[in-house]
Amino acid sequence: MKAKIEELVAEIQQFTTQSEKEIEEFRIRFLGSKGLLKQLFGEFKTVEPAQKKEIGQALNDLRSKASSKVEELKEALSADSTESKKYGDLTRPGLPVELGARHPISIVKNRIVDVFSKIGFTVSEGPEIEDDWHNFTALNLPEYHPARDMQDTFFIEKNPDTLLRTHTSSVQIRYMESHKPPIRTISPGRVFRNEDISARAHCIFHQIEGLYIDTDVSFADLKQTLLYFTKEMFGKSKIRLRPSYFPFTEPSAEVDIYWGLETETDYKITKGTGWLEIMGCGMVDPNVLKNTKIDPEKYTGYAFGMGIERIAMLLYQIPDIRMFYENDIRFLEQFKSVI
Ligand code: DAH
Repeated sequence: MKAKIEELVAEIQQFTTQSEKEIEEFRIRFLGSKGLLKQLFGEFKTVEPAQKKEIGQALNDLRSKASSKVEELKEALSADSTESKKYGDLTRPGLPVELGARHPISIVKNRIVDVFSKIGFTVSEGPEIEDDWHNFTALNLPEYHPARDMQDTFFIEKNPDTLLRTHTSSVQIRYMESHKPPIRTISPGRVFRNEDISARAHCIFHQIEGLYIDTDVSFADLKQTLLYFTKEMFGKSKIRLRPSYFPFTEPSAEVDIYWGLETETDYKITKGTGWLEIMGCGMVDPNVLKNTKIDPEKYTGYAFGMGIERIAMLLYQIPDIRMFYENDIRFLEQFKSVI
């Protein structure tokens, strides 16, 4: 009998299944009312008294092993079935991971930053809420100067004036106040103008400002830098500088690139001329240097400023500036493949 019990213990230990039916069969075979244990306990009566203690213990042990096996298997099975209830079919293929996309404004800003970083420009930033000094006065735009009309301003407070910066040129001033020449920096950022919203204009948009100050900086340096930029950014190597006016630069110019007249879109965006205006620039006015305590006898410099939306519209042929701010997923998704 002892040998038989040992055999059954080994069988219990080895038994495993994930089928509910097989667990039940196992239970009936060992613990059922006509099961093996019942049978063995019946035979126990015939065991010799000297062996009763030992065999009795072995039988009790066998019974508890069998019932813990049943419990254990049932538990594993129910844990399994709640998992699959929660997650459904665990063998099905996973959901595809949706790739995000960078906003086209960030893509273009990063590209411009990269192009200028290669020639030693650092990136600087300034506040969006500005004072009159940094946005206007120090840039050679004193109060009542008619050029202030070029930029309709959102004022936050009067006396002292607090406003939303109308251009990133304010960062030039902050940078010159806190750094000594040589200065080579570009300042990307958001700007605000009190303008009617249309396909071509928005009251919030982005600019990048460039500033270079050192001894002996000339207009030729400016032109060369701009040429490098247009080659890197657009792959176009023909530019022209048209005389213009900005209070903070003298002389001032507007930069056009030769876009070409190959397609109908080229005709449309260049109004049939082949030329496209992309930014304003000039030699930093000596008054601006003086306002930031840089000696205009010793130093000269150039500055430039461009609208990021305008460049993004050109590069990606986006017809309406409002598309940048609507967050329409069908628009944004198209930039997934661009880094
Ligand atoms: N701040 C000018 C604007 O918003 C752009 C500009 C023009 C910036 C000429 C400059 C510059 O630094 O030299 O229209």
